[in-house]
Amino acid sequence: MIEVVKFLPFLLLFLFSCASQHTTPKKRALAYTPCPISQDLRDLARRKKKLIGTAVHSRAFAENTRYRKALEDDWNLATPEYAMKMSFLEPEKEQFDFRESDAIARFAQKQQMVMRGHVLVWHRELPEWAEKESGDAEALRNTLKSYITTVVGHYRSEFPGLLRYWDVVNEAVDDTASLRRDSLWADIGNDYIELAFRWAHEADPAAKLFYNDYGIEEMNPKSDRVYRLVKKLLERGVPIHGVGFQMHLGEGLKHDFASMEKNLERFRKLRLRVHITELDVRLKVDEGEQPSPAQLKLQADLYARAAGLCLASPTCDVIGVWGLSDAYSYIPDLHDGYGAGHLYDEDMAAKPAYCALKKALTLTSHPR
Ligand code: G3I
Repeated sequence: MIEVVKFLPFLLLFLFSCASQHTTPKKRALAYTPCPISQDLRDLARRKKKLIGTAVHSRAFAENTRYRKALEDDWNLATPEYAMKMSFLEPEKEQFDFRESDAIARFAQKQQMVMRGHVLVWHRELPEWAEKESGDAEALRNTLKSYITTVVGHYRSEFPGLLRYWDVVNEAVDDTASLRRDSLWADIGNDYIELAFRWAHEADPAAKLFYNDYGIEEMNPKSDRVYRLVKKLLERGVPIHGVGFQMHLGEGLKHDFASMEKNLERFRKLRLRVHITELDVRLKVDEGEQPSPAQLKLQADLYARAAGLCLASPTCDVIGVWGLSDAYSYIPDLHDGYGAGHLYDEDMAAKPAYCALKKALTLTSHPR
């Protein structure tokens, strides 16, 4: 009897340790150390006269308290990642549903953030009823004018001044550096882009109107075509105020920051504002796999250098990332074999890129 009593504490400890392994979820070992910079991104950006923004994933926003806390703590600009796209806002003809996007707008207003409306004219995320008008120039022209007028007008009246910026037209130049012919809206005619900007300006004269695209960050045929497009719009007196450079970067891709700097400068000379609108850095990781320390360092360097590009440019107003968390990411769906592209991991733990972005916001000069 005495023998058993002597071992009882060890036995209980052993039983408890086994039980706890099956009851409490195994916490993933964090591969990163906390950032020593205490100020939040928003204040650091404000000191540099920049806005720091992120795309907001509606489901994450609705269900994840750590996601919302991160939004509250660090960000002063919000862009609905998809809730303000046509298939969500006008799922049926003349039947608008602003519930999901207005929830984000109410949060942004309460947090004294500003918003980028994304996106009025795009060839993707279109409702079936609009697709069925393909080829009918007059119907499409009426549909697009009504859509832009209703959506921009809704936010002007319900949330005055909150939608400071609109991505009026997104990705209208294709990867061959030609005006996209596979856009439903191109059926209206070559002037659909000009018309969209004019309709948006009529609906909210105070809003700043942007053309937004990917793959136009460096000097290349696609950015040349966008340059010619926006230059012509300006010459025709079209109310366009800036260009959004999406800045989707990644491991294994070539990034020439000197070329980016030269490119942003030529748009500055057109007296257009510059926004980095969709910054992320995808890594070669399979679903559920964790990036290596070397991959995390590469990612951190690229986030910092992209932010540095905007910080060094007097006409760049917004450093915008395209999503906060690897748990709510479009990347694995769009780029097979890639993932982990955001500042926070699946558990909303800040990655080295978060700290690198913070550090970049404290610097007075920025490496290219
Ligand atoms: O929320 C619905 C859900 O209720 C439904 O069950 C599910 C299945 O249909 O769809 C869910 O919505 C999806 C949404 O992402 C949230 O996951 C949409 O179908 C899907 O199309 C949407 O994808 C978005 C994509 O644009 C197309 O709109 C991505 O989140 C978003 O990151 C991506 O963002 C684009 C920019 O707008 C333009 N630049 C490139 C960028 C990346 O592709």
